[in-house]
Amino acid sequence: MIPLIFLAFLSVLPADTFGAPTDVVPVSGQAISLLRRNQSPRDVTQWSALAKSQRDNLIAKYGGPVTTQKRSSGYNLIVDQQYDSSYYGSLAVGTPAVSFDVILDTGSADLWVAGSSCGTSCGSSSTYNPSSSSTFQNLSTSFDIQYGSGSAAGYVAQDMVQMAGFSVSSQGFAVVDSVSQNLLTSPVSGLLGLAWESIAISKQMPLWQTLASNNAWDSALFGVQLTRYTNDSTAQQLEPGGVLNMGYTNSSLYTGSIDYIDIPGTPSYWYIPLTSMTVQGTSISITSGTTAAIDTGTTNIAGPASSIQAIYAQIPNSQPATGEWAGYYSFPCSTTVNVELSFGGATWSISPADFAFTQSSSTECIGAFFEASTGTGSPSWIIGDAFLKNVYSVFRYNPPSVGFANLSSIAIAENGAGGTVPSATIGTVSAAVTNTSDAPRRHALSASLSTFLFLAFSAVLLL
Ligand SMILES: *[C@@H]1O[C@H](CO)[C@@H](O)[C@H](O)[C@H]1NC(C)=O
Ligand SMILES: *[C@@H]1O[C@H](CO)[C@@H](O)[C@H](O)[C@H]1NC(C)=O
Ligand SMILES: *[C@@H]1O[C@H](CO)[C@@H](O)[C@H](O)[C@H]1NC(C)=O
Ligand SMILES: *[C@@H]1O[C@H](CO)[C@@H](O)[C@H](O)[C@H]1NC(C)=O
Ligand SMILES: *[C@@H]1O[C@H](CO)[C@@H](O)[C@H](O)[C@H]1NC(C)=O
Repeated sequence: MIPLIFLAFLSVLPADTFGAPTDVVPVSGQAISLLRRNQSPRDVTQWSALAKSQRDNLIAKYGGPVTTQKRSSGYNLIVDQQYDSSYYGSLAVGTPAVSFDVILDTGSADLWVAGSSCGTSCGSSSTYNPSSSSTFQNLSTSFDIQYGSGSAAGYVAQDMVQMAGFSVSSQGFAVVDSVSQNLLTSPVSGLLGLAWESIAISKQMPLWQTLASNNAWDSALFGVQLTRYTNDSTAQQLEPGGVLNMGYTNSSLYTGSIDYIDIPGTPSYWYIPLTSMTVQGTSISITSGTTAAIDTGTTNIAGPASSIQAIYAQIPNSQPATGEWAGYYSFPCSTTVNVELSFGGATWSISPADFAFTQSSSTECIGAFFEASTGTGSPSWIIGDAFLKNVYSVFRYNPPSVGFANLSSIAIAENGAGGTVPSATIGTVSAAVTNTSDAPRRHALSASLSTFLFLAFSAVLLL
């Protein structure tokens, strides 16, 4: 999901917030439920690593020199919620660690979790109780994020956060005490922003960026595979959703090489040029310089009205949809629609099953491409899951780039395959990142400011 404020405001954001120095030391402990790349039992090497890490940890804590770091990798199994509407993973917060399901969102950069003070607006989602965590620290700045589909508000804090076997002590995040309706669907308790710190409303470095910039990962990148259940009439509300690979790419999930496209400027969103598009084999004109944000937290694909019109012009008997569907188009479900996209390198196809987002009548389908205007200086296209289900995606720290590869037959076989839905886990700690930065940070934008921008720029996106 793309926070509204930045759709209009991106160009005036400071870009000086990358790479705040933090120390990384390996540490081990708090093995609760194990979900690690290497699941072999602890051997002598690991015990010695543990002993070393305890020492390193102590040195770091009491101001000793930064010690060498052990790189690692891990993965988090994803859940596909409501027939490809959203994809969530899990992480754990606090001491003792409590696990939460969070939407995995490469279109924003804040981690937030519903707090125990949230009350009815958080529905039946489980909540984080600061008073139950011995490592909770209140930064006491306000937090208010507006997405096209709703908003969340609370305050900024720090606590230990663990995910996929990694642990970050003093990870900044927001404890949310109010969310707008429909933003949280149980069991989801929050959202993990996987974009860059420059667009973090909380001004906290995102978890992934802390890990990547501190060399905690074997490779400073994360890979995403998302499953498809949209055209599966037997699908349940929750299905296995694919995987988030942290610190490596899983070569079993893709074929050929990964085609990387660099971010053409200061990283904020994961945005890359959109260079060409065909619909039923016919090219759609794309203005030179057009960029697209690659967004796991958006279900569909948004673009400028003129381009969306040009897409549906290639689909006989399609028409603008009305009412709640304003901005979308309907088309005959009997039409198989083939769309191909290129970001300057290879060409990628979208499955006709993903193009047919949903059915609106016995014969009419709603297309996954819809009209939305974004703010000046922001990517004009938002490329969501309707595309990302068709590729293995890689989000690389340095050079900042997004890569795609064709899915392997193993990955494709996981579409619609059913099976056990992964449950929230607390990975064992393979590498810990200690936050030693005491520098005061800018205040989070206040509620009134973001509301003002929302009204002033009318950057309305229904994502
Ligand atoms: C944290 O600080 C905020 C803002 O001052 C306050 O509203 C909130 O109640 C505090 N939370 C806790 C758990 O102390
Ligand atoms: C580290 O602490 C500083 C100041 O308390 C905070 O602003 C920053 O976001 C923290 N970094 C992480 C990775 O949590
Ligand atoms: C869903 O669509 C894909 C691609 O069009 C196809 O391979 C698959 O068999 C379809 N699955 C179902 C259950 O219709
Ligand atoms: C790679 O993906 C395959 C297929 O999902 C899986 O069986 C394997 O465990 C994965 N390996 C790693 C290292 O993640
Ligand atoms: C991806 O697969 C398609 C269909 O098999 C093929 O035409 C295309 O060349 C592949 N792309 C890459 C980059 O390997």
